[in-house]
Amino acid sequence: MSQQKSLIIANWKMKLGLNQALDLAKSLKAVEALGKEIVICPSFASLFPVSQVLKNTELKLGAQDIFWEASGAYTGEVSASELRDVGCQFVIIGHSERRKYLSETDEIVHKKVKAALAADLVPIICVGETFDQRQAGAADYVLIQQVTKALEGIDLRPDQPVVVAYEPVWVIGTGQAIDPPQAGHVHQVIRQTLIDLFPLELVKNSFRIIYGGSVDRSNVSDFTNLENTSGVLVGNASLEAAEFIDLIKNA
Ligand code: PGA
Repeated sequence: MSQQKSLIIANWKMKLGLNQALDLAKSLKAVEALGKEIVICPSFASLFPVSQVLKNTELKLGAQDIFWEASGAYTGEVSASELRDVGCQFVIIGHSERRKYLSETDEIVHKKVKAALAADLVPIICVGETFDQRQAGAADYVLIQQVTKALEGIDLRPDQPVVVAYEPVWVIGTGQAIDPPQAGHVHQVIRQTLIDLFPLELVKNSFRIIYGGSVDRSNVSDFTNLENTSGVLVGNASLEAAEFIDLIKNA
């Protein structure tokens, strides 16, 4: 895996209005990145104003979604170049909430990953099994399928970073993260899947596998210390400045 600095991604979901987003961004502005790479993902409506607050800081900006076409009559959608225009460098793709509520399929995820890469945005590809899939013993299978379908046939330049976020659907937002060794096992499965898809050197240099699902300041180091794990994707614990700053310090 890539030996870059730890990646910490804040997913604000649809939980903050514009003023709350601006207040939170201002409180985070002074944060020292402490040798970590920090990405803030506000909702679409807050992207540009937050980008203005984060200007000239070490914090990077990401979107929570993207559309796969470059432009055209697609009411309500947002293209990769629009995301770049407002200062995004990253984009979350295929979050389980979108798979569940917006019926996003692996095929849609694949098209979005391609669109992001074509615009030199770093895709943060979310994968994860549901509780039922885990109980059925199908977790590894589901993850291999999701990773493969998202990335199969994609031509990656050696300088294009990609993030794969393992987010077990059944622990997101529960306050109870998965046991770190279980995440470690899955990260190994994801790594093997990537090796089956891409040359080893590319997997080592371009891919980062991160964990998401009820990460907070007290458990973050259990995940960032895992082998094959380059960071975390954080929902609830990224919505409050003091908690998130502690989390960054502890990562
Ligand atoms: P959580 O959300 O940290 O609140 O569990 C993580 C996510 O959905 O990305």
